[in-house]
Amino acid sequence: MSHSTCRRFDHIVILSGAGLSAESGVATFRDPEGIWQQYDPMDLATPEGFARNPSLVYEFYNARRKQLDDVAPNAAHRALARLCREYQGRVFLVTQNVDDLLEQAGCSEVCHMHGELRVALCTHCGERSIAATAFDGDSHCVHCGEVGGLRPDIVWFGETPYHMAAIERELSTADLFVAIGTSGTVYPAAGFVQEARWCGAHTLEINLESSERADVFDEHRLGPATEQVKQWVEEMLAGQ
Ligand code: APR
Repeated sequence: MSHSTCRRFDHIVILSGAGLSAESGVATFRDPEGIWQQYDPMDLATPEGFARNPSLVYEFYNARRKQLDDVAPNAAHRALARLCREYQGRVFLVTQNVDDLLEQAGCSEVCHMHGELRVALCTHCGERSIAATAFDGDSHCVHCGEVGGLRPDIVWFGETPYHMAAIERELSTADLFVAIGTSGTVYPAAGFVQEARWCGAHTLEINLESSERADVFDEHRLGPATEQVKQWVEEMLAGQ
C-alpha cells in the first residue's frame, strides 16, 4: 500500500491527459505516433492557424470528433467513475482531454479545461451548441443564426483555459492531487502539482513513463493507465 492509499483523503483533485484515453484508441499528442508528430499545432491549435486556414482546422476537428463514435471508455475511465461514485463529492475531475469518455464511463461532473470536441462555439454570439455533425464555415449558429462564425470549442495555444478559478479553488483545498496520463509539458495544467503541494496535498503521478514534472510528485505509479489506475482505485476503495 503506498502513501496515497493508506490514509483517508477528503478532497482529491485528479488531472487527466491524453494518456488516460490512449488505450481507448484516442491518439496522444507527444508520443512517437502522437498528433503533434504528424501535424503542426501552430496550424491546427492556434487562433492564427484558424484565421489562416479555417477549412483545414474544421477538417481536423471534424475527423477527431467523428473518431469519438468509434472509441469507448477503457478500464481506467471506468475505475475513475467508480471512485467518484464511492467517494461522493470528495473527487474533482479536471481533464485536458476533449473527448467525452469519462462521461461515457459514468462520471457526472468533468471539468474540461481545454474544451470539448462535441461542442461548437459561435464567435458571433459566444453561445455553445452540440456539434452533432461536421460543421464548416457555411454552418449557421442555432442560437443567433449567423453563418460562418462557428469554431471548435477547443482551447488553443495562447488562449486561456476554461474554469481556471474553480480549478485553483479545488487545488487550494486538495489533500491529494493525482495526475494521470499527461506529459506535464503544457501550462497551466503542468503547474497544478506544484500548487497542490504548496497547499499541503500529497501528490501522485500515474503515467506510462515519468513525465516532465515527475520530480515534483511525492509518489509515482508507472505503467498503462488501464492497469495502474484500476489498481490504485481498488486500493483506495479498500482503504476508503
Ligand atoms: N497509460 C498511461 N499513460 C500513457 C499511456 C497509457 N496507456 N499512453 C501514453 N501515456 C502518457 C505518455 O507517456 C505521456 O506522458 O500520456 C502522456 C501524454 O502526453 P501528451 O501527448 O503530451 O498529452 P497531454 O499531456 O494530455 O497534452 C496536454 O497539450 O496539445 C495540448 O491541448 C493539448 O490537452 C493537450 C495538452
